[in-house]
Amino acid sequence: MRVAIVGASGAVGQEFLRVLEEHGFPVTELVLFGSERSEGRSYMFGGKEYTVRRLCHNDDFKGIDVAFVSAGGSTSVEFADTITKHGTIMIDNSSAFRMDPAVPLVVPEVNPEDALDTPRRIIANPNCTTIQMVVALKAIEGLSHIKRVHVATYQAASGAGAQAMAELENQHRQITQGETPTVEKFAHQLAYNLIPHVDVFTDNGYTKEEMKMYHETRKIMHSDIEVSATCVRVPVMRAHSESVWVETEKPVSVSAAREAFAAGKGIVVVDDPGTGQYPMPLHVAGKEPVYVGRIRADISNPNGLTFWCVGDQIKKGAALNAVQIAELLIERGVLKA
Ligand SMILES: NC(=O)c1ccc[n+]([C@@H]2O[C@H](COP(=O)([O-])OP(=O)(O)OC[C@H]3O[C@@H](n4cnc5c(N)ncnc54)[C@H](OP(=O)(O)O)[C@@H]3O)[C@@H](O)[C@H]2O)c1
Repeated sequence: MRVAIVGASGAVGQEFLRVLEEHGFPVTELVLFGSERSEGRSYMFGGKEYTVRRLCHNDDFKGIDVAFVSAGGSTSVEFADTITKHGTIMIDNSSAFRMDPAVPLVVPEVNPEDALDTPRRIIANPNCTTIQMVVALKAIEGLSHIKRVHVATYQAASGAGAQAMAELENQHRQITQGETPTVEKFAHQLAYNLIPHVDVFTDNGYTKEEMKMYHETRKIMHSDIEVSATCVRVPVMRAHSESVWVETEKPVSVSAAREAFAAGKGIVVVDDPGTGQYPMPLHVAGKEPVYVGRIRADISNPNGLTFWCVGDQIKKGAALNAVQIAELLIERGVLKA
């Protein structure tokens, strides 16, 4: 499989290198792309060194089977034709094409069949907060249709990229040294703080991140499900957490939900509050599954169920999900190894 990574120097790009290696993805040729900032930089993969090329409008993608693209929405829009014109399948991590009706939005545990219909040769990877939530919701939807979800997210700094991680680290260092923390990537100081503001605000008072959770959940689940989200940035380095309240058509017992989560693809249940066992970002960072715990009946709603879920948003929320899509395409014969 001839593979390209666009945005190789970034937080997600670096994770692509790790996941492809960890999964033994059948890479016969690898080409790394970036902007002029990382052009010429080298990264190791499979014991070999690869140098980043500058992404340009040329024929560099001729012969590439699959391109994992994580270089922001404007780069995806500008280069989609360049990437796909010779038949390359582009798996895109940005939000640019997610709601395009001709582009499937895929989480392999939830809607694998959608990945087989790619008129534009583009498959979109959903928003990281949406991916981990729908993996968990899929288990409940199998018991009763979900009418409504309220969700509060606790999103790690790395969700905003490599420079954002560095900013949080730097703020901690600056504070301990008595300096004024530098604020560039986030709207406010994140160290020792929470910021109820991820992405830009829209006209209805929700942020774009919150509206992505509404629209993308409906598209992935092929459902009329209503989603009301509040997305919060927290001073955690890696792995997003979510507090989820679900309203189902028929009541779902806690034991049935726990069984469904335990049997659900890509889910690990950690739920023994008596011994302090519940998922936490510190333990989930770097892991592949979505972890679910604090499963309980919602005391405010007879058809309500509430739970807590944590997922590594650079892995399952980005690179891993995209690699799983490619693995699915290989399994179904769309990509030929
Ligand atoms: N971080 C997450 O948890 C996460 C989760 C899901 C989805 N995503 C999405 O994934 C994408 C990348 O996110 P990230 O967190 O990895 O960001 P990042 O750490 O800031 O990295 C951005 C990458 O994009 C490249 N890039 C920017 N402009 C480019 C251009 N004109 N041509 C070629 N490459 C260009 C950069 O290369 P240079 O260094 O050469 O400029 C860099 O490798 C974004 O669309 C983001 O929304 C991120």
